[in-house]
Amino acid sequence: MVPLSRLLFAMALLHATAAAAASGGGRRQKRYDRVFSFGDSLTDTGNVLHISHSGEGPPAGRPPYGETFFRRPTGRASDGRLVVDFIGEHAKHSRVSTLLACHRTIHLVVIVTLVLVGPAVEALGVPHPTPYLAGKTAADFSRGVNFAVGGATALDVQFFQSRELKPFVPISLDNQTSWFNNVLELLGSVEEQRKIMSTSLFLVGEIGVNDYFIAALGRNRTAGDVKTFVPRVLAAVRSVITDVIAAGASTVVVPGMIPLGCEPQLLAQYNGSVGAGGYDPVTGCITRLNDLAELHNRELRRMLSGLRRAHPGTAIVYADLYRAVTNLVVSPTKYGFRSRPLAACCGGGGGAYNFDDEAFCGAAGTAACGDPSEYVSWDGVHFTEAANRRIACAVLKGLTAPTLSISLATTEAWRRTIGCV
Ligand SMILES: *[C@@H]1O[C@H](CO)[C@@H](O)[C@H](O)[C@H]1NC(C)=O
Ligand SMILES: *[C@@H]1O[C@H](CO)[C@@H](O)[C@H](O)[C@H]1NC(C)=O
Ligand SMILES: *[C@@H]1O[C@H](CO)[C@@H](O)[C@H](O)[C@H]1NC(C)=O
Repeated sequence: MVPLSRLLFAMALLHATAAAAASGGGRRQKRYDRVFSFGDSLTDTGNVLHISHSGEGPPAGRPPYGETFFRRPTGRASDGRLVVDFIGEHAKHSRVSTLLACHRTIHLVVIVTLVLVGPAVEALGVPHPTPYLAGKTAADFSRGVNFAVGGATALDVQFFQSRELKPFVPISLDNQTSWFNNVLELLGSVEEQRKIMSTSLFLVGEIGVNDYFIAALGRNRTAGDVKTFVPRVLAAVRSVITDVIAAGASTVVVPGMIPLGCEPQLLAQYNGSVGAGGYDPVTGCITRLNDLAELHNRELRRMLSGLRRAHPGTAIVYADLYRAVTNLVVSPTKYGFRSRPLAACCGGGGGAYNFDDEAFCGAAGTAACGDPSEYVSWDGVHFTEAANRRIACAVLKGLTAPTLSISLATTEAWRRTIGCV
Protein backbone atom coordinates (compact mmCIF):
# COMPACT_ATOMS: atom_id res chain seq x y z
CA MET A 1 0.00 0.00 0.00
CA VAL A 2 1.47 3.32 -1.07
CA PRO A 3 1.30 5.93 1.68
CA LEU A 4 -0.90 8.86 0.76
CA SER A 5 1.90 11.30 1.50
CA ARG A 6 4.05 9.68 -1.19
CA LEU A 7 1.24 9.96 -3.71
CA LEU A 8 0.65 13.57 -2.86
CA PHE A 9 4.36 14.22 -3.12
CA ALA A 10 4.48 12.55 -6.53
CA MET A 11 1.53 14.59 -7.72
CA ALA A 12 3.06 17.80 -6.46
CA LEU A 13 6.31 16.96 -8.17
CA LEU A 14 4.65 16.15 -11.47
CA HIS A 15 2.71 19.35 -11.30
CA ALA A 16 5.83 21.36 -10.60
CA THR A 17 8.04 19.72 -13.21
CA ALA A 18 5.32 19.96 -15.86
CA ALA A 19 4.89 23.63 -15.02
CA ALA A 20 8.63 24.16 -15.29
CA ALA A 21 8.73 22.39 -18.64
CA ALA A 22 5.78 24.37 -19.92
CA SER A 23 7.17 27.70 -18.82
CA GLY A 24 10.50 26.83 -20.40
CA GLY A 25 9.00 26.34 -23.84
CA GLY A 26 11.05 28.17 -26.44
CA ARG A 27 13.13 30.02 -23.86
CA ARG A 28 16.76 29.08 -23.44
CA GLN A 29 17.04 27.65 -19.96
CA LYS A 30 20.19 27.49 -17.94
CA ARG A 31 20.71 24.00 -16.63
CA TYR A 32 23.10 22.94 -13.97
CA ASP A 33 24.45 19.44 -14.11
CA ARG A 34 26.51 19.68 -10.95
CA VAL A 35 26.88 21.77 -7.84
CA PHE A 36 30.29 22.77 -6.46
CA SER A 37 30.16 24.29 -3.00
CA PHE A 38 32.66 25.83 -0.61
CA GLY A 39 32.04 26.79 3.00
CA ASP A 40 31.60 25.68 6.59
CA SER A 41 29.06 23.77 8.69
CA LEU A 42 26.16 25.66 7.11
CA THR A 43 27.03 23.79 3.88
CA ASP A 44 28.99 20.68 4.93
CA THR A 45 27.12 17.50 3.98
CA GLY A 46 29.61 15.03 5.45
CA ASN A 47 33.25 16.13 5.19
CA VAL A 48 33.42 16.81 8.90
CA LEU A 49 33.06 13.08 9.59
CA HIS A 50 36.37 12.50 7.77
CA ILE A 51 38.37 15.06 9.75
CA SER A 52 40.00 13.76 12.91
CA HIS A 53 38.56 15.20 16.08
CA SER A 54 39.50 14.78 19.68
CA GLY A 55 37.03 13.03 21.98
CA GLU A 56 33.82 11.65 20.59
CA GLY A 57 33.89 13.39 17.20
CA PRO A 58 31.79 16.23 15.87
CA PRO A 59 28.24 16.68 17.23
CA ALA A 60 26.90 16.45 13.66
CA GLY A 61 28.00 12.80 13.63
CA ARG A 62 25.70 11.92 16.54
CA PRO A 63 21.95 11.72 17.08
CA PRO A 64 19.70 13.65 17.10
CA TYR A 65 21.42 15.34 14.12
CA GLY A 66 19.63 14.26 10.95
CA GLU A 67 16.54 13.03 12.83
CA THR A 68 14.02 14.86 10.66
CA PHE A 69 15.08 14.02 7.13
CA PHE A 70 17.89 11.52 6.77
CA ARG A 71 16.82 9.72 9.96
CA ARG A 72 20.49 9.29 10.89
CA PRO A 73 23.45 11.61 11.49
CA THR A 74 25.14 12.43 8.17
CA GLY A 75 27.60 15.11 9.27
CA ARG A 76 25.10 17.85 8.43
CA ALA A 77 24.77 20.36 11.26
CA SER A 78 20.97 20.30 11.31
CA ASP A 79 18.04 18.00 11.96
CA GLY A 80 17.73 17.53 8.18
CA ARG A 81 18.64 19.11 4.89
CA LEU A 82 20.83 22.17 4.39
CA VAL A 83 20.35 25.04 1.99
CA VAL A 84 22.73 23.34 -0.47
CA ASP A 85 20.53 20.21 -0.43
CA PHE A 86 17.42 22.21 -1.28
CA ILE A 87 19.22 24.08 -4.03
CA GLY A 88 20.59 20.81 -5.38
CA GLU A 89 17.07 19.46 -5.54
CA HIS A 90 16.07 22.48 -7.52
CA ALA A 91 19.04 22.08 -9.88
CA LYS A 92 18.05 18.47 -10.49
CA HIS A 93 14.44 19.38 -11.12
CA SER A 94 15.47 21.96 -13.64
CA ARG A 95 17.26 19.21 -15.53
CA VAL A 96 14.41 16.75 -15.18
CA SER A 97 12.00 19.33 -16.52
CA THR A 98 14.04 19.74 -19.66
CA LEU A 99 14.17 16.00 -20.20
CA LEU A 100 10.43 15.92 -19.72
CA ALA A 101 9.97 18.33 -22.55
CA CYS A 102 11.57 15.75 -24.86
CA HIS A 103 10.39 12.44 -23.46
CA ARG A 104 7.55 13.41 -21.28
CA THR A 105 5.70 10.16 -20.83
CA ILE A 106 8.68 7.94 -20.28
CA HIS A 107 10.17 10.20 -17.68
CA LEU A 108 6.90 10.74 -15.91
CA VAL A 109 6.62 7.00 -15.48
CA VAL A 110 10.19 6.72 -14.24
CA ILE A 111 9.73 9.54 -11.76
CA VAL A 112 6.47 8.20 -10.41
CA THR A 113 8.01 4.76 -9.96
CA LEU A 114 11.03 6.12 -8.15
CA VAL A 115 8.98 8.33 -5.91
CA LEU A 116 6.61 5.55 -5.00
CA VAL A 117 9.20 2.91 -4.17
CA GLY A 118 12.03 4.92 -2.69
CA PRO A 119 12.56 6.94 0.46
CA ALA A 120 11.07 10.23 -0.68
CA VAL A 121 13.30 12.72 -2.40
CA GLU A 122 16.56 10.83 -2.10
CA ALA A 123 15.20 8.11 -4.36
CA LEU A 124 15.14 10.63 -7.19
CA GLY A 125 18.92 10.61 -7.24
CA VAL A 126 18.83 14.27 -6.38
CA PRO A 127 22.34 15.65 -6.77
CA HIS A 128 23.37 16.09 -3.21
CA PRO A 129 26.96 16.87 -4.24
CA THR A 130 29.44 14.32 -2.92
CA PRO A 131 31.48 15.50 0.07
CA TYR A 132 35.05 15.85 -1.21
CA LEU A 133 36.53 13.70 1.53
CA ALA A 134 34.03 10.90 0.79
CA GLY A 135 35.00 10.54 -2.89
CA LYS A 136 38.03 9.59 -4.95
CA THR A 137 37.22 9.19 -8.64
CA ALA A 138 35.64 11.33 -11.34
CA ALA A 139 32.58 9.07 -11.15
CA ASP A 140 32.23 9.78 -7.42
CA PHE A 141 31.96 13.47 -8.28
CA SER A 142 29.61 13.21 -11.25
CA ARG A 143 26.91 15.14 -9.34
CA GLY A 144 29.31 17.77 -8.11
CA VAL A 145 31.50 18.19 -5.07
CA ASN A 146 30.96 19.75 -1.71
CA PHE A 147 34.23 21.10 -0.26
CA ALA A 148 32.62 22.71 2.80
CA VAL A 149 33.82 21.51 6.19
CA GLY A 150 32.10 22.10 9.52
CA GLY A 151 34.25 24.50 11.54
CA ALA A 152 36.27 25.66 8.52
CA THR A 153 37.53 29.21 8.35
CA ALA A 154 38.13 31.55 5.45
CA LEU A 155 41.57 32.33 6.86
CA ASP A 156 44.44 29.94 7.41
CA VAL A 157 45.26 28.23 10.66
CA GLN A 158 48.50 30.21 10.97
CA PHE A 159 46.55 33.46 10.97
CA PHE A 160 44.71 32.42 14.12
CA GLN A 161 47.66 30.75 15.79
CA SER A 162 49.75 33.88 15.42
CA ARG A 163 47.03 35.69 17.37
CA GLU A 164 46.79 33.01 20.04
CA LEU A 165 43.38 31.98 18.74
CA LYS A 166 42.44 28.37 18.19
CA PRO A 167 40.51 27.32 15.03
CA PHE A 168 37.85 24.62 15.39
CA VAL A 169 39.36 22.49 12.59
CA PRO A 170 42.58 23.02 10.60
CA ILE A 171 40.76 23.61 7.32
CA SER A 172 40.57 26.93 5.48
CA LEU A 173 39.44 28.15 2.08
CA ASP A 174 42.99 27.51 0.86
CA ASN A 175 42.53 23.82 1.56
CA GLN A 176 39.17 23.80 -0.20
CA THR A 177 40.70 25.51 -3.22
CA SER A 178 43.47 22.94 -3.49
CA TRP A 179 40.84 20.19 -3.24
CA PHE A 180 38.97 21.88 -6.08
CA ASN A 181 42.13 21.80 -8.18
CA ASN A 182 42.53 18.09 -7.39
CA VAL A 183 39.01 17.44 -8.66
CA LEU A 184 39.59 19.50 -11.80
CA GLU A 185 42.49 17.24 -12.68
CA LEU A 186 40.21 14.22 -12.44
CA LEU A 187 37.81 15.67 -14.99
CA GLY A 188 39.83 15.16 -18.15
CA SER A 189 41.35 17.65 -20.59
CA VAL A 190 41.23 21.37 -19.90
CA GLU A 191 38.54 21.62 -22.57
CA GLU A 192 36.41 18.99 -20.83
CA GLN A 193 37.00 20.65 -17.47
CA ARG A 194 35.81 24.01 -18.79
CA LYS A 195 32.71 22.46 -20.31
CA ILE A 196 31.78 20.90 -16.98
CA MET A 197 32.51 24.11 -15.07
CA SER A 198 30.33 26.15 -17.42
CA THR A 199 27.29 23.93 -16.79
CA SER A 200 27.78 23.80 -13.02
CA LEU A 201 26.37 25.93 -10.26
CA PHE A 202 28.99 27.27 -7.82
CA LEU A 203 28.19 28.20 -4.25
CA VAL A 204 31.00 30.09 -2.55
CA GLY A 205 29.97 30.50 1.07
CA GLU A 206 28.64 31.26 3.47
CA ILE A 207 32.17 31.34 4.93
CA GLY A 208 33.62 33.57 7.62
CA VAL A 209 31.22 32.77 10.44
CA ASN A 210 33.90 30.70 12.19
CA ASP A 211 36.57 33.34 11.70
CA TYR A 212 34.32 35.78 13.52
CA PHE A 213 33.13 33.27 16.14
CA ILE A 214 36.71 32.34 17.00
CA ALA A 215 37.62 35.97 17.41
CA ALA A 216 34.44 36.91 19.26
CA LEU A 217 34.48 33.96 21.66
CA GLY A 218 38.10 32.85 21.76
CA ARG A 219 39.54 35.59 23.90
CA ASN A 220 38.58 38.87 25.42
CA ARG A 221 38.15 40.63 22.11
CA THR A 222 36.22 43.72 21.28
CA ALA A 223 34.15 43.93 18.12
CA GLY A 224 36.69 46.48 16.94
CA ASP A 225 39.38 43.80 16.78
CA VAL A 226 37.07 41.39 14.97
CA LYS A 227 36.29 44.06 12.37
CA THR A 228 39.90 44.05 11.29
CA PHE A 229 39.34 40.47 10.08
CA VAL A 230 36.71 41.50 7.53
CA PRO A 231 38.99 42.60 4.66
CA ARG A 232 41.12 39.48 5.09
CA VAL A 233 38.12 37.15 5.13
CA LEU A 234 36.76 38.80 1.99
CA ALA A 235 40.11 38.59 0.22
CA ALA A 236 40.03 34.81 0.82
CA VAL A 237 36.48 34.60 -0.59
CA ARG A 238 37.49 36.69 -3.60
CA SER A 239 40.38 34.39 -4.31
CA VAL A 240 38.05 31.35 -4.51
CA ILE A 241 35.66 33.20 -6.81
CA THR A 242 38.41 34.25 -9.22
CA ASP A 243 39.81 30.69 -9.19
CA VAL A 244 36.50 29.09 -10.16
CA ILE A 245 35.90 31.74 -12.82
CA ALA A 246 39.37 31.06 -14.21
CA ALA A 247 38.40 27.37 -14.38
CA GLY A 248 35.34 28.23 -16.48
CA ALA A 249 32.48 28.80 -14.01
CA SER A 250 29.52 30.62 -15.57
CA THR A 251 27.31 30.96 -12.49
CA VAL A 252 28.64 31.75 -9.03
CA VAL A 253 26.28 32.28 -6.11
CA VAL A 254 27.90 33.99 -3.12
CA PRO A 255 25.90 33.84 0.11
CA GLY A 256 26.66 36.61 2.58
CA MET A 257 27.01 36.59 6.35
CA ILE A 258 24.14 35.56 8.61
CA PRO A 259 22.98 37.89 11.42
CA LEU A 260 25.60 36.86 13.97
CA GLY A 261 23.88 38.78 16.76
CA CYS A 262 20.81 36.51 16.49
CA GLU A 263 22.81 33.32 17.13
CA PRO A 264 21.60 31.73 20.39
CA GLN A 265 25.16 30.68 21.29
CA LEU A 266 26.49 34.22 21.11
CA LEU A 267 23.37 35.62 22.80
CA ALA A 268 23.80 33.20 25.70
CA GLN A 269 27.55 33.67 26.04
CA TYR A 270 27.46 37.46 25.75
CA ASN A 271 24.74 37.67 28.36
CA GLY A 272 25.69 40.15 31.00
CA SER A 273 28.39 41.79 28.91
CA VAL A 274 25.87 43.45 26.59
CA GLY A 275 24.12 46.39 28.17
CA ALA A 276 20.36 46.86 27.74
CA GLY A 277 21.07 49.26 24.87
CA GLY A 278 23.09 46.59 23.07
CA TYR A 279 20.06 44.70 21.81
CA ASP A 280 17.97 45.47 18.75
CA PRO A 281 14.55 46.47 20.14
CA VAL A 282 12.66 44.59 17.40
CA THR A 283 14.63 41.34 17.12
CA GLY A 284 16.38 41.09 20.49
CA CYS A 285 19.63 40.34 18.66
CA ILE A 286 23.00 41.83 19.66
CA THR A 287 23.44 45.02 17.66
CA ARG A 288 27.23 45.06 17.73
CA LEU A 289 27.50 41.57 16.21
CA ASN A 290 24.86 42.27 13.59
CA ASP A 291 26.74 45.43 12.66
CA LEU A 292 29.80 43.26 12.05
CA ALA A 293 27.78 40.94 9.78
CA GLU A 294 26.35 43.94 7.91
CA LEU A 295 29.82 45.37 7.45
CA HIS A 296 30.95 42.03 5.99
CA ASN A 297 27.98 42.01 3.63
CA ARG A 298 28.40 45.62 2.49
CA GLU A 299 32.05 45.04 1.69
CA LEU A 300 31.22 41.68 0.06
CA ARG A 301 28.64 43.27 -2.24
CA ARG A 302 31.12 45.98 -3.16
CA MET A 303 33.71 43.34 -4.01
CA LEU A 304 31.17 41.40 -6.11
CA SER A 305 30.35 44.53 -8.12
CA GLY A 306 34.01 44.84 -8.96
CA LEU A 307 34.20 41.19 -9.96
CA ARG A 308 31.14 41.56 -12.22
CA ARG A 309 32.80 44.41 -14.06
CA ALA A 310 35.99 42.38 -14.43
CA HIS A 311 34.13 39.21 -15.53
CA PRO A 312 31.09 40.24 -17.58
CA GLY A 313 30.69 36.69 -18.94
CA THR A 314 30.03 35.21 -15.50
CA ALA A 315 26.81 35.57 -13.54
CA ILE A 316 27.84 36.47 -9.99
CA VAL A 317 24.84 36.44 -7.69
CA TYR A 318 24.81 37.68 -4.10
CA ALA A 319 22.55 35.63 -1.84
CA ASP A 320 21.21 37.69 1.04
CA LEU A 321 21.26 35.22 3.94
CA TYR A 322 21.18 38.12 6.39
CA ARG A 323 17.78 39.25 5.23
CA ALA A 324 16.48 35.69 4.82
CA VAL A 325 17.30 34.85 8.45
CA THR A 326 16.25 38.23 9.82
CA ASN A 327 12.83 37.81 8.20
CA LEU A 328 12.37 34.57 10.15
CA VAL A 329 13.42 36.23 13.40
CA VAL A 330 11.20 39.28 12.89
CA SER A 331 8.08 37.41 11.74
CA PRO A 332 8.48 33.80 12.87
CA THR A 333 4.81 32.89 12.84
CA LYS A 334 4.39 34.17 9.28
CA TYR A 335 6.79 31.40 8.21
CA GLY A 336 5.35 28.69 10.45
CA PHE A 337 7.76 29.03 13.37
CA ARG A 338 6.73 29.52 16.97
CA SER A 339 7.04 32.92 18.47
CA ARG A 340 10.45 32.60 20.23
CA PRO A 341 12.89 32.44 17.32
CA LEU A 342 16.04 33.04 19.38
CA ALA A 343 15.86 29.79 21.36
CA ALA A 344 17.64 26.64 20.17
CA CYS A 345 15.61 23.48 19.61
CA CYS A 346 18.30 21.03 20.69
CA GLY A 347 20.65 21.09 23.66
CA GLY A 348 20.48 22.09 27.29
CA GLY A 349 20.44 25.38 29.05
CA GLY A 350 16.83 26.51 29.13
CA GLY A 351 16.14 30.20 29.46
CA ALA A 352 15.61 32.63 26.66
CA TYR A 353 18.11 30.98 24.31
CA ASN A 354 18.18 27.37 25.52
CA PHE A 355 21.91 27.25 24.98
CA ASP A 356 24.70 25.94 27.20
CA ASP A 357 28.16 25.18 25.86
CA GLU A 358 28.45 22.37 28.42
CA ALA A 359 25.22 20.81 27.17
CA PHE A 360 25.59 21.15 23.41
CA CYS A 361 23.08 19.33 21.22
CA GLY A 362 24.01 15.66 20.99
CA ALA A 363 25.82 15.55 24.35
CA ALA A 364 24.70 13.05 26.97
CA GLY A 365 21.66 14.28 28.86
CA THR A 366 20.53 16.75 26.21
CA ALA A 367 17.50 16.40 23.99
CA ALA A 368 15.90 17.96 20.96
CA CYS A 369 12.59 19.79 21.14
CA GLY A 370 9.48 17.87 20.12
CA ASP A 371 9.02 19.61 16.80
CA PRO A 372 12.15 21.14 15.20
CA SER A 373 10.04 22.68 12.44
CA GLU A 374 8.77 25.20 15.01
CA TYR A 375 12.32 26.47 15.61
CA VAL A 376 14.68 28.59 13.54
CA SER A 377 17.81 27.48 15.40
CA TRP A 378 18.58 23.79 15.67
CA ASP A 379 21.49 23.72 18.13
CA GLY A 380 22.13 27.36 18.95
CA VAL A 381 24.61 27.76 16.09
CA HIS A 382 23.00 26.12 13.04
CA PHE A 383 19.54 26.25 11.54
CA THR A 384 16.78 23.67 11.50
CA GLU A 385 15.79 22.03 8.23
CA ALA A 386 12.62 24.15 8.30
CA ALA A 387 14.70 27.34 8.48
CA ASN A 388 17.11 26.06 5.82
CA ARG A 389 14.17 25.48 3.48
CA ARG A 390 13.04 29.08 3.98
CA ILE A 391 16.58 30.35 3.41
CA ALA A 392 16.88 28.26 0.23
CA CYS A 393 13.56 29.72 -0.93
CA ALA A 394 15.02 33.21 -0.57
CA VAL A 395 18.23 32.22 -2.37
CA LEU A 396 16.31 30.64 -5.26
CA LYS A 397 14.23 33.76 -5.64
CA GLY A 398 17.49 35.64 -6.21
CA LEU A 399 18.41 33.25 -9.03
CA THR A 400 15.95 34.99 -11.32
CA ALA A 401 18.66 37.48 -12.19
CA PRO A 402 18.33 38.60 -15.84
CA THR A 403 21.88 37.39 -16.49
CA LEU A 404 20.81 33.82 -15.71
CA SER A 405 18.04 33.75 -18.32
CA ILE A 406 15.80 31.91 -15.91
CA SER A 407 12.19 33.03 -16.06
CA LEU A 408 10.22 34.00 -13.01
CA ALA A 409 7.70 31.23 -13.77
CA THR A 410 10.48 28.64 -13.75
CA THR A 411 11.89 29.91 -10.49
CA GLU A 412 8.43 29.79 -8.96
CA ALA A 413 8.00 26.21 -10.17
CA TRP A 414 11.33 25.26 -8.57
CA ARG A 415 10.34 26.97 -5.37
CA ARG A 416 7.11 24.99 -5.32
CA THR A 417 9.03 21.72 -5.59
CA ILE A 418 10.83 22.40 -2.33
CA GLY A 419 7.76 23.75 -0.58
CA CYS A 420 8.39 27.51 -0.63
CA VAL A 421 4.96 28.43 -1.93
C1 LIG B 1 45.41 22.48 4.75
O1 LIG B 1 46.37 23.44 4.31
C2 LIG B 1 47.54 23.50 5.09
C3 LIG B 1 48.41 24.58 4.51
O2 LIG B 1 47.73 25.78 4.44
C4 LIG B 1 48.24 22.17 5.07
O3 LIG B 1 49.36 22.21 5.94
C5 LIG B 1 47.30 21.07 5.53
O4 LIG B 1 47.91 19.82 5.40
C6 LIG B 1 46.03 21.08 4.71
N1 LIG B 1 45.10 20.10 5.25
C7 LIG B 1 44.43 19.22 4.49
C8 LIG B 1 43.57 18.25 5.21
O5 LIG B 1 44.54 19.20 3.28
C1 LIG C 1 38.85 42.11 29.05
O1 LIG C 1 39.09 43.41 28.57
C2 LIG C 1 38.83 44.41 29.50
C3 LIG C 1 39.03 45.77 28.83
O2 LIG C 1 40.01 45.72 27.85
C4 LIG C 1 39.75 44.24 30.73
O3 LIG C 1 39.46 45.21 31.70
C5 LIG C 1 39.51 42.84 31.32
O4 LIG C 1 40.40 42.60 32.37
C6 LIG C 1 39.70 41.78 30.25
N1 LIG C 1 39.33 40.47 30.78
C7 LIG C 1 40.06 39.38 30.58
C8 LIG C 1 39.51 38.11 31.16
O5 LIG C 1 41.10 39.38 29.93
C1 LIG D 1 21.19 36.67 31.45
O1 LIG D 1 21.45 37.50 32.55
C2 LIG D 1 20.29 37.83 33.29
C3 LIG D 1 20.64 38.81 34.39
O2 LIG D 1 21.97 39.22 34.30
C4 LIG D 1 19.67 36.57 33.87
O3 LIG D 1 18.49 36.89 34.55
C5 LIG D 1 19.36 35.61 32.73
O4 LIG D 1 18.91 34.39 33.24
C6 LIG D 1 20.60 35.35 31.89
N1 LIG D 1 20.24 34.55 30.75
C7 LIG D 1 20.96 33.53 30.32
C8 LIG D 1 20.45 32.81 29.13
O5 LIG D 1 21.99 33.18 30.85
